Amino acid sequence: MCGIVACRMDEAAGPFLIDALKLLEYRGYDSAGVAIRTLDGTMASSRTTNRVETLERQLDEWAGPALSGTGIGHTRWATHGAVTESNAHPHADCRQRVSIVHNGIIENSDALRRQLEQTGHLFASEVDSEVVSHLIEEELLITGDLRSAVTAATLRLHGSWAIVALDAETGRMVAAAHRSPLLVARSARGVFAASDINAIAEFVDEFQAMTDGDVVELGEEFVWTRSGAHSAAPAYATSNWSGVTHGLAGHTDYMSKEIAEQPETAARIIDRLAPMIADGSLWSGLNLPPFERVAVLGCGTSLNAGRVIANAFGALGDVPNSSLIASEASSAIMDPRTLVIALSQSGETADVLRAIDDLDLGTSSLMALTNSEHSTLARRADSMLNCNAGPEIGVAATKTFVAQVITGVAMALSALAATRRIDRDYARRQTDDLRRIPDLLAHAIAASQKAIPPLIEEIRDAQGFLFLGRGAGVVYAAEGALKLKELSYRWAEHYPAGELKHGPLALVEAGTPVVVIDSGDRRIESNISEVEARGGRIIRIGGAGSTIPALGLSLGTAMPGGIDRWGPLESVVPLQILARDLALALGRDVDKPRNLAKSVTVE
Ligand code: F6R
Repeated sequence: MCGIVACRMDEAAGPFLIDALKLLEYRGYDSAGVAIRTLDGTMASSRTTNRVETLERQLDEWAGPALSGTGIGHTRWATHGAVTESNAHPHADCRQRVSIVHNGIIENSDALRRQLEQTGHLFASEVDSEVVSHLIEEELLITGDLRSAVTAATLRLHGSWAIVALDAETGRMVAAAHRSPLLVARSARGVFAASDINAIAEFVDEFQAMTDGDVVELGEEFVWTRSGAHSAAPAYATSNWSGVTHGLAGHTDYMSKEIAEQPETAARIIDRLAPMIADGSLWSGLNLPPFERVAVLGCGTSLNAGRVIANAFGALGDVPNSSLIASEASSAIMDPRTLVIALSQSGETADVLRAIDDLDLGTSSLMALTNSEHSTLARRADSMLNCNAGPEIGVAATKTFVAQVITGVAMALSALAATRRIDRDYARRQTDDLRRIPDLLAHAIAASQKAIPPLIEEIRDAQGFLFLGRGAGVVYAAEGALKLKELSYRWAEHYPAGELKHGPLALVEAGTPVVVIDSGDRRIESNISEVEARGGRIIRIGGAGSTIPALGLSLGTAMPGGIDRWGPLESVVPLQILARDLALALGRDVDKPRNLAKSVTVE
């Protein structure tokens, strides 16, 4: 949730840390801070409850001793303690010698705090993380060695942590990780640690991902202390984010850019996967055992993408399927020979990681579908499929949804072909349907950009929204409601349209906006009439003549047994644009909605 970065460089640490924090800000933006070693061996610390730009100004105005190239930085998503400057990281020990940044939750922090207070430690904040700096201080007094002190301190912690500790006196820096992502890297530019590779990708080509219980000293050489299961240091992984541009490319916000990128992203993914669908090689390359049923697991938008993929397995191959909300999945009982597909764009969502740890897989197998091939989820799964969406900076997931759906459906088709549930010709026809998706998405963008702006003034003051669909459209209605509430902060609920008359219709009054995904099921007309009879404002997303005629290309055209069975995927585009335009009209920050973070690494 929080973002961590650390560096030891020959050049000044400040500008590097600021740039890296800007790239990590999507992990949390309640507060930000840095601690940089000064050239005379003290610690310079700066924190703010504003955004990283404020921190940058504070650093520019720094008037103390000259700053070195060694420092740590943090961007916070509050879990324990209010959003105040004193609760912002880095946190220091009593002597201001050791500063730490931490991501995760220290579950026994109350007990540790009481013990430490009894031995004279004075706390400056309310946050669980601060106990870590005091524990290290205590251990440092005993051992005099930062790495031993961090190792000993972490042995007293329960919970999850990614920590970097910096000793102002010696300049030594030590990282520790347990159930929270942290990677370390070295290049000609220096030595680095970060919670996300994108924060340091410009500076390194290779990195090592820390695993549970690891402690590593970030010196000239990395010195690893690892748990019994791992004796050697982790292998180097190659960063495929190098050279990736994070600019807005003329857009006003990342969400706009990422919505616009969807047709090109879809085309790139389909071009790569299409040759591996009908011959089953996409599936066989995953080396997973045969399956009799499918269960998808995830949170939020990834769960919605998973539901579309589960629908595709059912509709195209008659495979029994189910979906599991990750935070509720731990007690789920898996039928034998289930293919469990865990979806997470970040691959670090704590609810997903906990669910896969707790599930009794037995004869079932676990596949990760993620946008982060080196993530914890990717490492823990039996096999991993990268959805290759490229960087997504906006906190609201957009192009990763499209990328997950296309990758997952391609994999489903390949699995169905490989296991002879569908024949190759049928798989080829389906692949041809997939190839049409980039055009469908582009058409939906153009139609939405025309139809949605005139609607916004009319719905701007509505306090609640309903989203309806039928069949394959229901999950898109769910995604539309999720996008609208997270971006505009208005209430939004989704329902299968037929359910409306069983309760939710009571919510409809004059002017209530009701967004309908019209994917061609004629029964939806009576549901629309029910709303209109009560004065509700229908916003129909469908073919020609709809309020938003974004589905024009896929409706009424021959796609036998095709994407209409799990689509219409392009309906997500008007839903994204509707949510964004409304949010902008209400003055919201669409890239950083309040209270949220892109990578939710706490349960
Ligand atoms: C919604 C959104 C969240 C995420 C959810 C899972 O726009 O972004 O609902 O989809 O937090 O995140 P990942 O996919 O990283 O597991």
